[in-house]
Amino acid sequence: MSTADTTVYTLADLETWSRPGTHLAVLGRPIAHSLSPLMHNAALAQMAARDPRYRDWHYHRFDIAPEDLPRALAIFHEKKFHGLNLTAPHKVIALDCVAEIDPAAAPAGAVNTLTWTAKGWHGANTDGHGLATAIRETLDIELRDSHILLLGAGGAARGAAGECLQRRCASLTISNRTRPNLDALLDAMRPLAGGIPLSAFQSFSPSAFLIINATSSGLRPADEPPIDLAALTPRPLAVFDMIYNPPQTPLLAQAAALGIPRANGLSMLIHQGARSLEIWTGETIPVEAMRNALQEARESETRRPESQNPKL
Ligand code: ATR
Repeated sequence: MSTADTTVYTLADLETWSRPGTHLAVLGRPIAHSLSPLMHNAALAQMAARDPRYRDWHYHRFDIAPEDLPRALAIFHEKKFHGLNLTAPHKVIALDCVAEIDPAAAPAGAVNTLTWTAKGWHGANTDGHGLATAIRETLDIELRDSHILLLGAGGAARGAAGECLQRRCASLTISNRTRPNLDALLDAMRPLAGGIPLSAFQSFSPSAFLIINATSSGLRPADEPPIDLAALTPRPLAVFDMIYNPPQTPLLAQAAALGIPRANGLSMLIHQGARSLEIWTGETIPVEAMRNALQEARESETRRPESQNPKL
């Protein structure tokens, strides 16, 4: 097994796919930037060293257009791919293509992990697990009983909001650039709140928040931070940014300048991936092998000025 397979496969490659072995893949568009094959193949290589069954497991990336997703998923199923990860723009549209959905994925309104079953794809979502585990690992904070200020109202924010409520945060306050999108997210989350205070952000807050950035602001170095941390009273407890490339967004740079504990989304990427692999194999996953592979990739990436912006 190679940890350096950089091939980007297409629907045409899938149609003629006849390689032996057990295959996993990530589907997206764009997909060339995805670090998932690197991370998963590093874990599989380590698993193969102690269990020969994993020697012919391979994780690939496929560039699939959103309009081709239903057909592609049917072919992946026919070719008996064991598991698939979905990234933008497929996480929501795949809901209509799966035979069953893990109940825990419902609040996210999206799936990122598909597992082959005889009756069709089983859909799950490991992003919430990745988020909660990363916040625990990097900031030593549990979502449970935390006051959370969530930035954003798109797909990533919806998944994060669902996870915060499912884990019984103390309160969930949401801020977003476009008010109607914020109102739509609040409406979607209200049935999950079960007594947890859920509201739109006002300029004043009675509690110090853990801030979670789920906006895409920060992907470009020139982006303004989605909130001015210096204007918040009291100061946030910590800031978790779901973006991992660039490793320091303008929001995290401001947190650093103010001495606020902070973390980027690298740990979330690792833990959502590890949970997917755990679902597919039933094994304990060598998370450190995944982390090392990503760190090595990042080091070589920082030597390349034209680096792109991977998303989960
Ligand atoms: P994703 O799937 O990554 O969540 P998305 O669904 O397109 O992507 O959502 C992007 C989120 O980032 C939205 O909340 C968006 O705010 P709007 O609802 O106002 O569009 C937010 N966002 C994107 N660029 C932003 C910026 N420059 N400043 C603040 N928020 C931004």
